[in-house]
Amino acid sequence: MSKQSVIGDQQSTFSNDFKLHNPIELEKHYGAAIYDPLPVVLSRGLGAELWDTSGKRYIDMMSAYSAVSHGHSHPRLVNLLTQQAQRLSICSRAFYSDRLGFFLKKVCDLTQMECALPMNTGAEAVETAIKAARKWAYTVKKVACNQAEIIVCRGNFHGRTTTVVGMSSKLQYQFGFGPFAPGFKMIEYGDPAALSAAITSNTAAFLVEPIQGERGIVVPPNGYLRAVEKICQKNNVLLILDEIQTGLGRTGRFLACDHEGVKPDGLILGKALGGGLLAVSLFLSRREVMGVFTPGDHGSTFGGNPLAATVGLEALEILFDEKLIERSEELGEYLHQNLLKISSPLIKEVRGKGLFIGIELDSHYAKGREIVLQLLEHGLLSYETHDTVIRLAPPLVISKQQLDEALILLKKVLQVNTSGNRNY
Ligand SMILES: Cc1ncc(COP(=O)(O)O)c(C=O)c1O
Repeated sequence: MSKQSVIGDQQSTFSNDFKLHNPIELEKHYGAAIYDPLPVVLSRGLGAELWDTSGKRYIDMMSAYSAVSHGHSHPRLVNLLTQQAQRLSICSRAFYSDRLGFFLKKVCDLTQMECALPMNTGAEAVETAIKAARKWAYTVKKVACNQAEIIVCRGNFHGRTTTVVGMSSKLQYQFGFGPFAPGFKMIEYGDPAALSAAITSNTAAFLVEPIQGERGIVVPPNGYLRAVEKICQKNNVLLILDEIQTGLGRTGRFLACDHEGVKPDGLILGKALGGGLLAVSLFLSRREVMGVFTPGDHGSTFGGNPLAATVGLEALEILFDEKLIERSEELGEYLHQNLLKISSPLIKEVRGKGLFIGIELDSHYAKGREIVLQLLEHGLLSYETHDTVIRLAPPLVISKQQLDEALILLKKVLQVNTSGNRNY
């Protein structure tokens, strides 16, 4: 049988049964299996709550990997998005728009950076940072042509493009996708001495996350960022912070580096910058760094479009108007302290900052997937990372009552009575 007819047969079997009307089966059949979603089909969201197609309500403790800090369908954002969409959405950067400049000014003022370059996804903004750092190394630091090095950390997560997975330490992210771009050096996370030892005269930048989110909410020792800032300054190396996940209030400060009063040379933002509605990312830096780009060096069809600029600017204002950063600090502390009170052999560690918390499970007793499936059944949405960590990163608009409800459900699933049975 020809390959063509086998595919044709599969197609007709598929279209002949109920699967054609089932969203899960449709995604499985027509999509690529790059995720392993929980068996729930969501159809509506508001604030910190989501509903599935049967009308069952869930508390969202994931916020789409921290992209929905403002909550689902924030009315101010939805209103403005709708108005702007009726005026002008995309015009490309071949022309100026009456929105982009105001967004860039706002974000530069807030971050104390001099320039910002808009992209769409986080990985694109990371790629932009890499290009800026390399060109800065050649044109400003005078590193020899094509010799620039960027130092990254073991356990990092900066996205999924080929250059970015090429600097990952996780085998699965790389396997089958090589060859990768050279010019990256890997050091241990949380160890300033490792950075000092790795720097050479060719080092352009140190790219690091203030908390390693995808690794399992790994918080470095206190003082780490301040120490690496000093080392970078001393060696004329750019400190570039990937705050795509930790930025914009997630950890209880506007930026996670604000916990230590650190000012990086380059900053990468994304996720919550789109207000839970759009993909909006930015690379920000000092003028000396951004100034290396000239027309034609870089670009993006959608990056910085008027719709994204409008939503991004409003998303930043809402963070302050609704005191979402303070909420993250207070409610994060409340969640953290109450999680620590859950006495369970399943829990090995609770760690994080603000509303960015990971529960590390004891792998002898439980698997992450087992726990998130039970939480799902009870009406709480979370997700495991690296099999053993339950990620808790709710929208920053979550109420104390909703958090209390989430804590009751977490306790139900995680608490084990003395005979080894769980309390549900
Ligand atoms: C720290 C960090 N950097 C980069 C990315 C990639 O962002 P995106 O998925 O928007 O490309 C992520 C996504 O989880 C992230 O957490």
